[in-house]
Amino acid sequence: MSLIEIKGLKKSFGALDILRGVDLQLDAGMTAIIGRSGSGKSTLLRCLNGLERIDAGSIRIDRHQITPTQSDLKSLRADVGIVFQGYNLFPHMTVEKNITLAPMLVKGTPRAQAQDKALHVLSQVGLLEKARAYPGQLSGGQQQRVAIARALALNPKVILFDEVTSALDPELTGEVLKVMESLSSEGMTQILVTHEMNFARRAARTLVFMHQGKVWEHGPTAELFARPQTKELDSFLSSIV
Ligand SMILES: Nc1ncnc2c1ncn2[C@@H]1O[C@H](COP(=O)(O)OP(=O)(O)O)[C@@H](O)[C@H]1O
Ligand SMILES: [Mg+2]
Repeated sequence: MSLIEIKGLKKSFGALDILRGVDLQLDAGMTAIIGRSGSGKSTLLRCLNGLERIDAGSIRIDRHQITPTQSDLKSLRADVGIVFQGYNLFPHMTVEKNITLAPMLVKGTPRAQAQDKALHVLSQVGLLEKARAYPGQLSGGQQQRVAIARALALNPKVILFDEVTSALDPELTGEVLKVMESLSSEGMTQILVTHEMNFARRAARTLVFMHQGKVWEHGPTAELFARPQTKELDSFLSSIV
C-alpha cells in the first residue's frame, strides 16, 4: 500500500476549477512536483495538509483520511508538515522558542523535552549554534533552515515544501537544498514543489508533472526527463533547461 493515495481530487475557487481530478499514489522518499505557474501545485500541497477543504475525491496519507466532509486536522498536521517560501518565523522569539512552540502547544510536549528536540533538529539543519539567535540575525537561507527544523520538531511522517528556495540567492539556495538532501538520506519523506530542475533530477526519486489541474505525467524522475510521454512535459522541460 502506498504512503499517499489521492483519488479524484477536485478543488475550485469560485468559478475557477484549479484541481480537476487528481489521481496519484506516492511512496516514501522524495517526490518533486513540477509544472507551469497556475497548474495547481500549491493548491495540491495545501490540500495534502488540510489548509484547503477539498470539493471532491479523497486523500489518504498514512492513516489519515481526508474527504470533503471529514478530516482530523490536528492529527493530520502533526504528521504532515509544510514549509513555505516565506519562513513565517516569529521575529520576537529566539530560534529555539520558534521551534519549541508547536510541540508544546499542539502536542503538550514538556518544555525540557521540546528543548532537547529543538537542539536535535537544529543540528539536523546545521544550525545548532543559532539556538539563541533571533530570526532577524540570520540570513534568508538560515531562516529557511530554521523553518525546516520547526517542521521536523513535530516528528512528521511527510514534509511538504512549496518553492522554499524561490526567494533565495543561489548560494543560500544551495545550503537549503543540501539540508533536504540530507533529510532524504535519513529516510524523511519529502514532497516538494520546485523550479530547481537540476536538484529535482538529482535528488527526487519520483517526478510529478502537473498541467491544467491534473497530474499529466508521473513516474521515476530519470525516465520522465529522458522520455517525456506528452508534448506538454516535453515543452515544459525544454522551456526551463
Ligand atoms: N485562495 C484562492 N482563491 C482564489 N484563487 C486561488 C486561491 N488559491 C489559488 N488560486 C488560484 O488558483 C490557481 C492555481 O494556483 P496554484 O495552486 O497556486 O498554482 P501553482 O502553485 O501551480 O502556481 C492560480 O491561478 C490562483 O490564482
Ligand atoms: Mg505555487
